[in-house]
Amino acid sequence: MKFHVLTLFPDMIINGMGESITGRAIKSGAISLEAVNIRDYAGNKHGQVDDYPYGGGAGMVMQPAPVYDAYRAVADRLSKPCRVVYMTPQGEVFCQKMAKEFALEEDLIILCGHYEGVDERVLELIVTDHVSIGDYVLTGGELPAMVMMDAISRLVPGVLHNDESAEYESFQNHLLEYPQYTRPVSFMGMDVPEVLLSGHHKNIAAWRQEQSLERTRQRRPDLL
Ligand code: ADE
Repeated sequence: MKFHVLTLFPDMIINGMGESITGRAIKSGAISLEAVNIRDYAGNKHGQVDDYPYGGGAGMVMQPAPVYDAYRAVADRLSKPCRVVYMTPQGEVFCQKMAKEFALEEDLIILCGHYEGVDERVLELIVTDHVSIGDYVLTGGELPAMVMMDAISRLVPGVLHNDESAEYESFQNHLLEYPQYTRPVSFMGMDVPEVLLSGHHKNIAAWRQEQSLERTRQRRPDLL
């Protein structure tokens, strides 16, 4: 999986993704990441990439040409056309099913907007998917892009060390994950459930299944 992020804040993307499991996956080559600075395609010496909206109104709008040229710089290097995801609160709300679908792609171009938005014409030209991470408005598309890339990355073979752990987690089978415990057996007067110490695999599996169901019923009944 190769992520190509078009952004005005490339350091935010590189630094954010460079830590923890995604950072390790980049170093090992399981995923790759480039952040293309849209400002490098400004076409003027001031590096200006935004302008006032036609028709008036608050804020600035990202101009189409720098976004298009940044996109072309990436797309012309790829051997075949790839999906171009625009991060926007107006998109389809991101979910585990979409993460699985995107994880099958070889390349993904992700466009991060800023200011009041991006000129509609370049979106019409290049964008294949409009994706939101939830019904709230952020200052830009960088955090949403990182949320999406993180969720996709952990489904890419070789990213998680224990291949099983991507299988049994929350949202697989539309259930939340069961509670987990580690040492010590007793903490602040609270003990680890007896069944987990029993070594009886069948009973443990049954207990976990029951806990998953109960937890989902309590916290996310909409998933059932
Ligand atoms: N840009 C600003 N807010 C956003 C959101 N909720 N999802 C995706 N992109 C965004």
